[in-house]
Amino acid sequence: MELRIRVLFTSVCHTDLIYWRGQDKAQRIYPRIFGHEASGVVESVGEGVDDLEIGDHVVPIFNGECGKCVYCKSKKKTNLCEKFRVNTMKSTMSSDGKCRFSTEEGKPIFHFLNTSTFTEYTVVDSACVVKIDREASLKKMSLLSCGVSMGVGAVWNTADVEEGSTVAVFGLGAVGLAVVEGARSKGASRIIGVDVNPHKSSKAQAIGITDFINPKDLDKPTHQRIREMTEGGVDYSFECAGNLDVLREAFLSTHDGWGLTVMLGVHPTQRLLPLHPMELFEGRRIVTSVFGDFKGKSQLPHFANQCIKGVVKLDEFITHEMPFSRINEAMQLLSDGASLRCLLHF
Ligand code: APR
Ligand code: ZN
Ligand code: ZN
Repeated sequence: MELRIRVLFTSVCHTDLIYWRGQDKAQRIYPRIFGHEASGVVESVGEGVDDLEIGDHVVPIFNGECGKCVYCKSKKKTNLCEKFRVNTMKSTMSSDGKCRFSTEEGKPIFHFLNTSTFTEYTVVDSACVVKIDREASLKKMSLLSCGVSMGVGAVWNTADVEEGSTVAVFGLGAVGLAVVEGARSKGASRIIGVDVNPHKSSKAQAIGITDFINPKDLDKPTHQRIREMTEGGVDYSFECAGNLDVLREAFLSTHDGWGLTVMLGVHPTQRLLPLHPMELFEGRRIVTSVFGDFKGKSQLPHFANQCIKGVVKLDEFITHEMPFSRINEAMQLLSDGASLRCLLHF
């Protein structure tokens, strides 16, 4: 049930930086091939795979869909699969617990997020491979592997933002800007972008924020400012910074009674959620969204078509392009907050 994919485009996401650096001490699994945002072409097909062929244009997904387990069979309950759900601890293939990469001496090189795309060829279980229309630009489709699907899906599926809603987005990297794009496409009346990096404001405005807040410029907590601006708080807030203090600000910036906060950041910390249980009685809710609540194999092709049609615009997300050999530079650009997505090509 495995495929070998020739990776044509891949880009660095903040999650790669977190695990490459070993910020989560429990997960220092090396040597390991990182990377999970990519697109490419099927180069060979393993026994048992009947939905993909050599030459198919594909996008790997870190949150797979086997289609057979109780989770996959649940229509709307979850997009987590029993076997192929997002799991940063998993470092080998599901079928035999072994690696498909090795050093010249034959020592294993571990896998990452069911995908491992920082390599010219990768081997992925078919549950984690989505076929994409041949007409689509593979370069742009690589964005659907993670950031854009996460952000737009969090708005469309997880929060189901209605036209006219007010929204606050904390962290304006690729994930946060995908939330902005999703909110814009749904006709949100106000989209407040929050980032400590002042350079993030112009791009975010081009995509669709109506207001920008830099918490460093405020003499009060960000949530207070947002509540003042919106007569009590926004309808929806999204945390896309990977910081628990930011998550608390996002939580408190929604309107009591109905506010919903969606957490998208990855939090490499031992700390627990930064809220008191009694605060939930105020009627604010907090949820997370894995892969934008898309069931990857069955729902991503439709989402890809929406992107091709221009319902969701992808161009703004690719800020840099360079050959794969310059990957260190690409990682530095993301780490410095100087890029959204730097497309690496082989
Ligand atoms: N308040 C507001 N914004 C912040 C703060 C803060 N305290 N700290 C960081 N940010 C902003 C950064 O300035 C940056 O613009 O959050 C943004 C994060 O963007 P990227 O580093 O580009 O990360 P991205 O790839 O968008 O991922 C965002 O989602 O998938 C997860 O692991 C990923 O936690 C990360 C998050
Ligand atoms: Zn990612
Ligand atoms: Zn499954």
